[in-house]
Amino acid sequence: MSDADQPKLFVFPRWSNLVIPALVLGAVAGMPYIVLLVGMIGAPSTLAVGYQPQQPIPYSHELHVNQLGLDCRYCHNTVETGAFAAIPPTATCMNCHHAVRTDSAVLKPLYESFRTGKPIHWTQVHDLPDYAYFNHSAHINKGVSCVSCHGRIDRMGGDGVYQHEELSMGWCLNCHRNPAPNLRPKNQVTNLMWGFDLTEDEAQQLRDLGLKDVKAGVDLTDEQRLEVGELMFKKHNVMDRHQMSDCSRCHR
Ligand code: HEC
Ligand code: HEC
Ligand code: HEC
Ligand code: HEC
Ligand code: HEC
Repeated sequence: MSDADQPKLFVFPRWSNLVIPALVLGAVAGMPYIVLLVGMIGAPSTLAVGYQPQQPIPYSHELHVNQLGLDCRYCHNTVETGAFAAIPPTATCMNCHHAVRTDSAVLKPLYESFRTGKPIHWTQVHDLPDYAYFNHSAHINKGVSCVSCHGRIDRMGGDGVYQHEELSMGWCLNCHRNPAPNLRPKNQVTNLMWGFDLTEDEAQQLRDLGLKDVKAGVDLTDEQRLEVGELMFKKHNVMDRHQMSDCSRCHR
């Protein structure tokens, strides 16, 4: 009798010997992680809406963005390409302040930083726990505006930036389950006034998208914002709500 004539027995493949140890190892290794996560429930630090630390220089977004018209990306120049939004180095400020307000008392730390080459120590305002993954470019490139998460930065003055939203998991998921109302054309992401008192160019862009009755000088209604958002949801090829709420999306 040759081997081929023997009734075929199911034999576990060799690698299956590794499955049980792997499961046990996984459970043990995963345990501290879960405990850590659960231990964080209600940890207040990241949920501090209104948190406004004092900064070494009373830098005003209201002045530089609203009055001088600087785009966010002039200073936070990695938001479109990276996970983090870069805080500008002293050199960026010096583009203007080598000549502007050189006698200012509040700018002394800036000139000191420039002279010594030591960076200014800005105090971080927003800070997620390390076990939660966030990425700026993933949002910016799908048409989510800074204003959805940071509020009206262009109205925040010399008292500094404050945290506008809760940044809790529930808050993230609330949008991930239904992002359309928060989506807009990509070129309007840093325009925190978009949708209010439309300029002629903004109105034209919306008419080109197929919105009727939009003209310069008016505000978009909630229905019109949703209409734009739904168009952008398709145009930017945004993931469905199940993919968006997958745990591994933000815990990797
Ligand atoms: C001229 C440079 C400049 C421009 C333009 C600018 N920022 Fe800033 N931004 C800063 C500096 C400096 C800080 C750090 C000081 C602070 O937090 O107030 C900062 C801080 C921030 C923070 C808080 C960061 C943290 O620590 O969590 C946010 C959010 C922010 N900017 C958003 C924006 C948005 C949105 C725009 C556009 C509407 C913008 N910025 C335009 C210079 C700039
Ligand atoms: C595009 C040019 C430009 C850039 C870049 C710029 N500033 Fe300014 N800044 C100005 C102008 C213009 C004023 C207003 C001067 C005035 O009121 O006469 C000003 C005013 C200020 C003041 C108020 C000074 C005072 O005495 O009241 C501070 C503080 C300041 N800037 C900080 C910064 C910091 C920090 C940066 C870098 C993160 C920066 N600026 C980048 C143009 C700029
Ligand atoms: C979907 C929400 C969301 C959007 C949209 C968003 N941010 Fe943020 N931003 C955050 C969160 C969350 C943090 C804290 C990240 C962390 O701690 O890892 C943050 C942090 C920052 C910081 C501090 C540095 C850093 O990356 O931790 C700056 C500066 C900033 N944002 C600027 C901007 C600007 C400018 C825009 C628009 C071009 C923008 N953000 C859009 C949620 C957002
Ligand atoms: C206002 C709406 C909104 C809020 C708030 C928001 N997100 Fe998002 N998020 C989106 C959209 C839209 C995308 C893009 C999905 C896609 O790529 O199709 C996204 C994508 C992501 C991605 C990248 C997914 C990938 O794998 O490419 C991560 C990570 C993420 N979000 C984490 C967070 C976290 C953490 C928070 C809360 C601190 C948060 N988001 C808050 C709308 C939002
Ligand atoms: C869109 C991003 C996102 C997704 C998806 C997500 N989380 Fe979170 N999660 C967060 C953020 C941000 C925090 C930190 C919130 C804070 O600082 O309190 C967090 C915190 C937690 C915590 C700590 C306790 C708490 O509630 O603050 C646990 C446990 C957790 N997540 C489990 C999960 C599980 C399980 C899933 C899948 C069902 C999931 N997360 C999906 C963003 C997300």
